[in-house]
Amino acid sequence: MKIMKSKEKNKKILVTGGAGFIGSHLCDYLLTRGNKVTCVDNFYSGSKDNIRHLLSHPNFKFIEHDIINPFFLEVDEIYNLACPASPISYQFDPVYTIKTNVLGAVNMLELARTNGAKIMQASTSEIYGDPLEHPQKETYCGNIDPTGPRSCYDEGKRAAETLFSDYAREFNVNIRIVRIFNTYGPKMALDDGRVISNFIIQALKNEDITIYGRGNQTRSFMYIDDLIAGMAAMMENSDFGGPINLGNPNEMTIKKLAQMIIKLTGSGSKIIYLPEVTNDPQKRRPDISLAKEKLNWRPRVDFETGLKKTIEYFKERVKNKTNILVFSTVYDDPIEGNLEKNVKDLVREMPNFHFHIIAGKFRSDLPKIHQGENFTIYRVGIGGNLDKYLLALIGPFKAMKLHKSHKFPLAWSIRATYGSLAALIFKFFSKVPFMVLFHQADLAKAEHRKVRLIWPIYKLILKKSGAIHLPDDIFIKEQRSAGDYEIIPFSTESTLEIRKVKEIHHKIIHKLNKKLVKPK
Ligand SMILES: NC(=O)c1ccc[n+]([C@@H]2O[C@H](COP(=O)([O-])OP(=O)(O)OC[C@H]3O[C@@H](n4cnc5c(N)ncnc54)[C@H](O)[C@@H]3O)[C@@H](O)[C@H]2O)c1
Repeated sequence: MKIMKSKEKNKKILVTGGAGFIGSHLCDYLLTRGNKVTCVDNFYSGSKDNIRHLLSHPNFKFIEHDIINPFFLEVDEIYNLACPASPISYQFDPVYTIKTNVLGAVNMLELARTNGAKIMQASTSEIYGDPLEHPQKETYCGNIDPTGPRSCYDEGKRAAETLFSDYAREFNVNIRIVRIFNTYGPKMALDDGRVISNFIIQALKNEDITIYGRGNQTRSFMYIDDLIAGMAAMMENSDFGGPINLGNPNEMTIKKLAQMIIKLTGSGSKIIYLPEVTNDPQKRRPDISLAKEKLNWRPRVDFETGLKKTIEYFKERVKNKTNILVFSTVYDDPIEGNLEKNVKDLVREMPNFHFHIIAGKFRSDLPKIHQGENFTIYRVGIGGNLDKYLLALIGPFKAMKLHKSHKFPLAWSIRATYGSLAALIFKFFSKVPFMVLFHQADLAKAEHRKVRLIWPIYKLILKKSGAIHLPDDIFIKEQRSAGDYEIIPFSTESTLEIRKVKEIHHKIIHKLNKKLVKPK
């Protein structure tokens, strides 16, 4: 590796996407080398938790900004990492993803051009698509459907590479393009659908490990420390712009990966197979001869060592879950509707949160507290029909008590009914925002005369809630002017709906997190 010690110190370096998985490790690394680091991120998929430990560092500055919009800063080097990177986040808003890739790249390239700074683009192995050449060399041009559901990311990254190359040719900008292959390690988001995080969480919970397809598709995984060393070597190498592959050629099947994770976690999970995902590449392995030749770089961390460190991190994270409060008229027992079932799916799908569910008791023989793996149900009332009213009265006080120890960032309620009234009262005392979940059936109910009678209460609840999931356009129009909330349909039990709700949920949590810590 070429080392230029004297020049490395005190550089002004910008890391876009610095609050993400890779970006936060990069910030750590650059600070330990004595540089002044500015991290720009809008928390679209990253987390303040990843950089919390840096916020008081004298050489670290955080700017909350969306790179789709231009900004100016004095810099010597730019690492452009900002981009929704996991399939769940980049498919959530595909237009936003491609805008980040294209407009974000233009803005960062302009910044580099104005400053005469070096700039690195975090490109991806996805630019090879479902490759017909194996392993993939930098000269391979890829096999990609430009109109598929993953194209916003794949083609966006390809367009960014084009922009980088053209800025180098036309304006002499000093560029670096690294094509990153699957990377794993501590600080990966827990529930963004990437294969390693999915499997580890499922294994830690002794749940079935879900493989899409037959599990014979291959991937090669690189530990984060190896990637950071490769990126630094590339930036510090003064004359080679790339593109260059950074990955671990140690290829394995997804099935083998699942088996290894089960073994290392000592889990009792079984492997189950689900239908294949559209455009899922069957083979992925980098040819890293160019990186060896130009940078004298190769991955050094063996898979088992890296995996053990990642599992340790996940164990800690699963322990320190975010607490979410839910008010639900009924839950689990004695009866439940579709919406309660949807919420149950969500609870299952979000293992890094602990759900505290306050519900009516309705039956005297039910236990007051029911503890699950990532949820606790607290049943309030006397075990009869009056419990729905008691939920609205007793629920907020129960919630206040729990709030003292659990510090809820957010409350949910199911339908604008008794539970929502409880959430509204709880918000009045605690200032904790809440979102209301609706179901398709509510719309039909709204036609009902009885519901019209309590319409003013409905309206108040909708106005005061932080996010609403509504099933119908008319309803959306009606409520859009009412307040600051986001609206998504919530009508089926499909995985897609659940993903959407998860994304919204994360956005809200991040929005709240922002308020909790003031960056320097
Ligand atoms: N993790 C991998 O295996 C992998 C593989 C190939 C390429 N990459 C690339 O590396 C980069 C970092 O990936 P990661 O795994 O750390 O993902 P990540 O989601 O953890 O980090 C991306 C960060 O960018 C931020 N961001 C997204 N859009 C933004 C915008 N418009 N303005 C400002 N900030 C924005 C997000 O909030 C997040 O903090 C991405 O560009 C990704 O495409 C990652």
